[in-house]
Amino acid sequence: MHPAMYKLKSEGRMPNEFYSPEILSSSYITRHVFNLYNDIRAKNNQLGVEYRLAAKNPRNKINQADSLEIILTDQFNKDSTLLKQSGITTIDGEKYLYYSRPFLRVEQGCLKCHGRKDEAPKALQEYYHWEGGYNLKIGEITAIEILKTPIKAEYNTMWIIGLIIFVIASLLITLIILHANLSKRKNIIQSQNIEIEKNLTKLKETQNQLVQSEKMASLGVLTAGISHEINNPLNFINGAYLGLDNFFSKKEPQLREDVKVLLRGMETGIERVTTIVQGLDHFSRDTSDFNEPCDLHQIIDNCLLMLRNLYKDTITIEKHYTHDPLIINGNDGKLHQVFMNIITNAIQAIEDKGTIKIISKKEKHLISICIEDNGCGIEKELLPKVIEPFYTSKQPGEGTGLGLSISYNIIQDHKGTLDVESEFDNWTRVRITFKTKNDDR
Ligand code: HEC
Repeated sequence: MHPAMYKLKSEGRMPNEFYSPEILSSSYITRHVFNLYNDIRAKNNQLGVEYRLAAKNPRNKINQADSLEIILTDQFNKDSTLLKQSGITTIDGEKYLYYSRPFLRVEQGCLKCHGRKDEAPKALQEYYHWEGGYNLKIGEITAIEILKTPIKAEYNTMWIIGLIIFVIASLLITLIILHANLSKRKNIIQSQNIEIEKNLTKLKETQNQLVQSEKMASLGVLTAGISHEINNPLNFINGAYLGLDNFFSKKEPQLREDVKVLLRGMETGIERVTTIVQGLDHFSRDTSDFNEPCDLHQIIDNCLLMLRNLYKDTITIEKHYTHDPLIINGNDGKLHQVFMNIITNAIQAIEDKGTIKIISKKEKHLISICIEDNGCGIEKELLPKVIEPFYTSKQPGEGTGLGLSISYNIIQDHKGTLDVESEFDNWTRVRITFKTKNDDR
């Protein structure tokens, strides 16, 4: 086509700018089509594919065959049944996969332009004035088409492995962050739990004290009833006793001597019942008043009287009272409860025989009362626990473990102190102190 175009051009039938040798070159077009194709592949991260039309003796220098292409061309010429050759080759240290097939065989018609140079069309001779592309022989395969692409499959797998590692790593990091967050929350929840537990214990403690004081209150109502009921017949008996005594003194002084012992017995009995009833009255008093005058000696004596049954002959009570009257402002009923508790504990600490010493002192602005028993004592480790609510050293069922805790709180309400000292297997001493009136509030 080149010569035809040259002819048209020289005759002035075709404008100069219409002629372009490139558009008449199939190898040029194919190369450019492949360039476009490779642009698209590159955008999709695919490796390029190189297309070449390679000739041993090309007209266009760009088509010059390299050593592999020469070998391949020779091979196609040697074996005419060969339709394709493919394999792996190394160029500049990189591996390429190639696929080649023979280009057209030279026929008679080809020689018009590819035969002897001086026989080729004039214009062609002028344009391709060098030797390449001439003197082709009929039946020969002068060129091959070859596709080459670098082998980078292993890089692809590396890529995939890298991606997997990246995904796993980011998952791990997310997990670690999540875990850290979770454990932070767990910590918060834990401390909240501790807080709640503390509050719950406090609540239980107060609730139990409430129950206990409720019990004491109902006990108070009961004892008030009992003491009232006993007081009535006691008055009859007392009246009758006085009448009898009067009768014998005035009318039968002789006989009186004989029944004197009996009369004394009656008198003592009546006195005792009277004190018991009066003692009961103290327990039944139900007020929240903290301003009653409370005689501590009398309170302790009342308690001892009530507890007589518990200690009777086995326990000696040693009272070392100060001669000063011990009167403080407080709640009489509640203080009865305190000493009742402490003395009961002392009695229960003594298994067989023993002594309970009660020592009261008054120094300047301080009143102190010590109640000391030589019973079983408290183990050193347990000592700080004895004023905790629910702590008990007694057998299950014998004590609620609230006694000392309640006593502790009552004494605190009186602005006093309660301490417990003990030596295991030897003794226990409960010391209660109050500030005297002058100092109070
Ligand atoms: C009318 C003239 C003409 C005829 C006929 C012709 N060719 Fe060409 N051929 C050319 C020109 C011109 C080029 C160079 C094109 C270029 O610049 O790439 C060429 C290029 C080639 C090339 C590319 C390698 C090189 O030398 O640059 C091959 C191979 C080729 N021809 C083979 C043939 C065969 C085989 C036939 C017959 C079937 C044939 N040609 C017929 C004009 C012709």
